Amino acid sequence: MNEELVLSVSHVSGGYHEGGPFRKGTYQEVLHDVTFDVHHGEILGLVGESGTGKSTLSRAILGIIKPDQGTITHYTKRPQMIFQDPYSSLNPAYTVEWILEEPLRIYGKYDGPERKRRVRDMLKRVELPEEVLAAKPSELSGGQRQRVSIATALIQRPRFLIADEPVSALDVTIQAQILKLLRQLRDELDLSYLFISHDLNVVYQLCDRVLVMKSGRIVEQGTVEDIFDHPKEDYTKQLLAAAE
Ligand SMILES: Nc1ncnc2c1ncn2[C@@H]1O[C@H](COP(=O)(O)OP(=O)(O)OP(=O)(O)O)[C@@H](O)[C@H]1O
Ligand SMILES: [Mg+2]
Repeated sequence: MNEELVLSVSHVSGGYHEGGPFRKGTYQEVLHDVTFDVHHGEILGLVGESGTGKSTLSRAILGIIKPDQGTITHYTKRPQMIFQDPYSSLNPAYTVEWILEEPLRIYGKYDGPERKRRVRDMLKRVELPEEVLAAKPSELSGGQRQRVSIATALIQRPRFLIADEPVSALDVTIQAQILKLLRQLRDELDLSYLFISHDLNVVYQLCDRVLVMKSGRIVEQGTVEDIFDHPKEDYTKQLLAAAE
């Protein structure tokens, strides 16, 4: 494994202030002393039961909430996100072509023909036919929509993606296709992922290393073989037993 880092999270604690992040009031600490690195080229899984703080950690990495303690260091440009439900992340009023082109328009560096070329290139990479460009998100299947949201996340060529339950809403056959695509894109575009999932089978298929989170703490981390074949912590053993 290449030891170059894309992200370092060091002793991060943080959470939500009543009325929203940053505001004064009742404070609920969700993340407690979280430390891990993401290495170049790896798919790092983050597992743990519902409410444990997985999405909160991704918000802290994206800068949406500010840690109260600790540091988050990015070694690449800002990561992009892929979400569970592409319905909520894709603007329903516009065509796929408009949606894919929009980040490039905002970026402002490319002229119209160059934007169109980049949109078509990304569409090919996520293995969608050109007909999809004229469709609205509601006219696509769940799998096609998730491919569009992956393409949207990748159109600005980030090096690091955070995927929060990206296949949980899809049926098993489509899940397998999207996981294959994510692996392929990692190899072709030299990406790294933080892959959040409560589904240990999916993590086992896709990831290189795994973080196990319990109540906002990383209780165990290691390679997929370490975690699945030689778990050390009782909590990891319980999660594995529950997934049998
Ligand atoms: N916007 C928010 N404001 C206040 N508290 C929140 C907010 N979002 C999450 N929380 C709380 O933070 C804790 C962690 O939630 P989080 O969404 O990070 O869990 P998760 O591991 O992603 O769960 P799931 O697997 O269900 O997605 C929970 O107690 C939750 O109620
Ligand atoms: Mg979540």
